[in-house]
Amino acid sequence: MAVRITLAEEIHRLKKEKNALILAHYYQYPEIQEVADMVGDSLQMAQFAAASRADILVVAGVYFMAETAKILNPSRKVLLPDTGAGCSLADSCPPDEFRSFVQHHPGAPVVTYINCSAQVKAMSDVICTSSNAEKIIRSIPDNGPIIFAPDVNLGQYLIRQTGRDLLLWNGSCLVHESFSIDKILALHKMYPRAKFIAHPESQPHILKIASYVGSTKGMIDFVSKDAAQEFIIATEAGILHEMQKQVPDKLLIPAPAYEDNTCACSECPYMKMNTLEKLYDCLLTEQPEITVHEQTRKLAEAALQRMLQLS
Ligand code: 13P
Ligand code: SF4
Repeated sequence: MAVRITLAEEIHRLKKEKNALILAHYYQYPEIQEVADMVGDSLQMAQFAAASRADILVVAGVYFMAETAKILNPSRKVLLPDTGAGCSLADSCPPDEFRSFVQHHPGAPVVTYINCSAQVKAMSDVICTSSNAEKIIRSIPDNGPIIFAPDVNLGQYLIRQTGRDLLLWNGSCLVHESFSIDKILALHKMYPRAKFIAHPESQPHILKIASYVGSTKGMIDFVSKDAAQEFIIATEAGILHEMQKQVPDKLLIPAPAYEDNTCACSECPYMKMNTLEKLYDCLLTEQPEITVHEQTRKLAEAALQRMLQLS
């Protein structure tokens, strides 16, 4: 009888043969998370990429994450299963428009959220993620306005948390802007003991009712440590895979979005462009490879290293 080799087994074989590592974001499909060498949030992925000695890094995430891996570890081959996996937030900040925004505010320090292009990172003094944004803003001397881009919701949250004067770029994430307050409140009536937690890319009226606001990793840690047994989770639904593994006995309910869809939750169409099949093809052919222009890379690396030192 012929032995059936699964795609996952083939991926493990290729990883070993090619000395490759797979970095997956929490928003990836469960089967991708299961073959990955690390699963994490944007900060953990950047830290892992910077420290990695593998010949090949396969980023199961979106374009800016693969670019970040290449910027931090230029001697490695960095692959992304589908180069169409962009990000609405990164796309909302075109480099030329951002350059003139920065030029209009001479002397203002530039802090950018990691969800942006390599060119925008190259114009920044320091990068942040949702895990460390507050710490990074507080690390900057309080003597004038700070440019913050591209997420306006995270920016407004940081103004509320730190009281600092931030000049905000008006970008947003299509997933985190889709949560419906009416549906969340209706759901909470059905589960009155559930704690509502949200990612800071969500809109202010959603964050206002949250018991906890934090990065994907922060949300997983909160659910693990908090005594509550039921949670309503406002971020991309892929997080539920790792979260449920951490707390198998707790009830995790994805927050509902405006438009009803099949799972009544929010999914990132870009994150979900990666499939196990594309991951396998990418490892086999070592394509598509991500490259970054060296001059841009060096400037972006300096801003990313500042973030890693402060984290
Ligand atoms: P974190 O992984 O930093 O929580 O950000 C979530 C996100 O939207 C990534 O694209
Ligand atoms: Fe971008 Fe939002 Fe998708 Fe994250 S979830 S990759 S911020 S569009």
